[in-house]
Amino acid sequence: MSIQSQIEELRQKLHLHNYSYYVLDAPTISDSEFDLLLQNLIHLEKQHPEFYDKNSPSQKVGGEIIDRFETKAHATPMLSLSNVYSEQELNEFCTRVQKRSDREQTYTCELKYDGVAINIRYTEGKFVNALTRGNGVQGDDVSHTVKTVKNLPLVLQGNDIPNEMEIRGEIIIDKQHFEQINNKRRAQGQTPYANRRNLASGTLKLQNSNQAAERHLSFKIYSVHILNNHPFRTHSQLLSKAHEWGFPKSDFLQICTTTSALYECIAEVETKKDSYPYDIDGMVIKLNDIDQYTLLGNTAKSPRWATAYKFVANQAKTTLLSISYQVGRTGAITPVANLEPVWLDGTVIKRASLHNADQMTRLGIHSSDTVIIEKGGEIIPKIVGIDLSKRRDNSIALRFIPHCPECKTPLERLDGEAAHYCPNTLECPPQIKARIEHFVSKKGMNIEGLGGGKLDMFLNKQIITSPADIFSLLDLPDNKLVGLSKVITTEEGSEPRVISLQQKSIDNLKENLHKSKHTTPFEKVLYAIGIRFVGETVAKKVARHFKSIDQLSVASFESIMAIPDVGEQIANSIKNFFANPEHLALIDTLRHQGLQLEITQNKQQTKDFFVDKRFVVTGTFTHLSREELKNKIESVGGINVSSLSKKTDYLVAGDKAGSTKLDKANALGIDILNEEQILTQLN
Ligand code: IVH
Repeated sequence: MSIQSQIEELRQKLHLHNYSYYVLDAPTISDSEFDLLLQNLIHLEKQHPEFYDKNSPSQKVGGEIIDRFETKAHATPMLSLSNVYSEQELNEFCTRVQKRSDREQTYTCELKYDGVAINIRYTEGKFVNALTRGNGVQGDDVSHTVKTVKNLPLVLQGNDIPNEMEIRGEIIIDKQHFEQINNKRRAQGQTPYANRRNLASGTLKLQNSNQAAERHLSFKIYSVHILNNHPFRTHSQLLSKAHEWGFPKSDFLQICTTTSALYECIAEVETKKDSYPYDIDGMVIKLNDIDQYTLLGNTAKSPRWATAYKFVANQAKTTLLSISYQVGRTGAITPVANLEPVWLDGTVIKRASLHNADQMTRLGIHSSDTVIIEKGGEIIPKIVGIDLSKRRDNSIALRFIPHCPECKTPLERLDGEAAHYCPNTLECPPQIKARIEHFVSKKGMNIEGLGGGKLDMFLNKQIITSPADIFSLLDLPDNKLVGLSKVITTEEGSEPRVISLQQKSIDNLKENLHKSKHTTPFEKVLYAIGIRFVGETVAKKVARHFKSIDQLSVASFESIMAIPDVGEQIANSIKNFFANPEHLALIDTLRHQGLQLEITQNKQQTKDFFVDKRFVVTGTFTHLSREELKNKIESVGGINVSSLSKKTDYLVAGDKAGSTKLDKANALGIDILNEEQILTQLN
């Protein structure tokens, strides 16, 4: 077979497998078989660029990098929707519709996805381009990032495919993937993203589509616009036809003939809106008969045949008292708004995050402003707007501070980063404290007994000034520590009281220090020393790869980059860390104190069956606890992950394993191991 036919056959196969997976929900091959075919295709395409196809399934992993966005016109304008907020307003909408139309109406009721609107053009069943809404008439061409959306077909399947059409919908990031992305960021010492919609929008606008492919965007379809003649009469018919062609099915589509049925439908979804795996901010009601669209027409901005029933967001208004600037472990500065306390969703809110300087500029925040706060999917409430009608005449625009609030060093902002940093790493007090807290934390050296204000006592008396001093506590005579005291206020408004260190807690602390020194493995020590962007997961990978701090400290940039999932930012940060003599001195001290700065022999004994395989462990086990089993899996090279996905290799199911997990593993074709089988592999 010619190379060209081989490539085409592979493409055809992969399109069909994607279709079976996302549309029919019936995978025909395992993930690893799929990956193998895809890798084959990518390999052949690299060797034979002459057979390039912009809609090849290989586009799903990204690759294209653009330097600017082209603006292009939508075939038909992208309108927005009018809003209604109550049953009465919904009734009024239906009455207006009825007045203008010539028959009894049937409505559809669907979810209003809180994502980013996208318009995707297909010609003869092939993806042409994807445009953002823009000003409604023309938008930015973001085809390169949209092509990486896994549940969006690039080549359509089935019959009656129109010559020209636009498919419209929203691009979203679901809650689970957003959490995963943020966990990864936290593990790398980066500030988590605050908002799902903004992240989806920012991802579409990335210039490098490889990065977009890692963000797990997904597509929610909401309308089909066929540009040539076609036989379809209703919106619901179009959506189900689109599903046959390869688009995802609407998660919720109800056909209603009465306003009360519509309202029932809305009320039902509203009660469970937070349980959806992605954000929805209302319901969209449309006339089902599309020939009525022309009859009813549009107002200046929105069609008369559709409306959005918006769920009331949980918002409150309150007064801004001041802005504090918090200094993090890595010196990153976060502005936090201090607010006049206000009730929102059953809790009193006194603070809200302002994220960074750009966010403050976007809001244009002034002193004493009345701010609108909202509890989104995030824990910390955010300021979503400002009530300008309440702005005081004498208010002043608030600007991000130029100096560190603690040590007064001028702040720096690195290229491409949203945060400002205080560069005075070694002397800035909150950075020192946060670094020590990180060093002793559970995921790091795991030293119990430094809470309850003890660390503050040591810091105040300058007994501790860096992580290097923690284990020196073991050499200090007890009488230097017993009796140290601190004034604490446990609750706001309560009387302050003095606590002082007793012999008993010194004994406990010293015992814990001994334990930590002898039992904390290299990978955790590496995490504990707090290299920027080296979180728990990266520390593990780096430790396993280089095996000792000495090898890591002299490793080249390229050899660090060669570790899977380690990028330029991390590699740079590691190189910078070891270029600093103060850090080398810290490592020397830790070595003298007897910490483990290399992987111990038994850690290096990986087992082929486990190396780089992903395991989900669920249920209870007879011979060991779940935690023990997970530790064993890791110690021989396996990777524990918390939820099942196409990338999981094995589900280890003990007693009382949930049936949902078992079903999902079966559906994804993941091998399931019982306790006996996993123990056999381990021994
Ligand atoms: S229909 C002419 N259906 O909401 C009306 N829009 O606030 C076309 N949206 O611009 C829109 N879910 O981006 C429609 N099920 C849904 C939707 C939906 C979310 C967005 C869409 C629109 C905006 C209007």
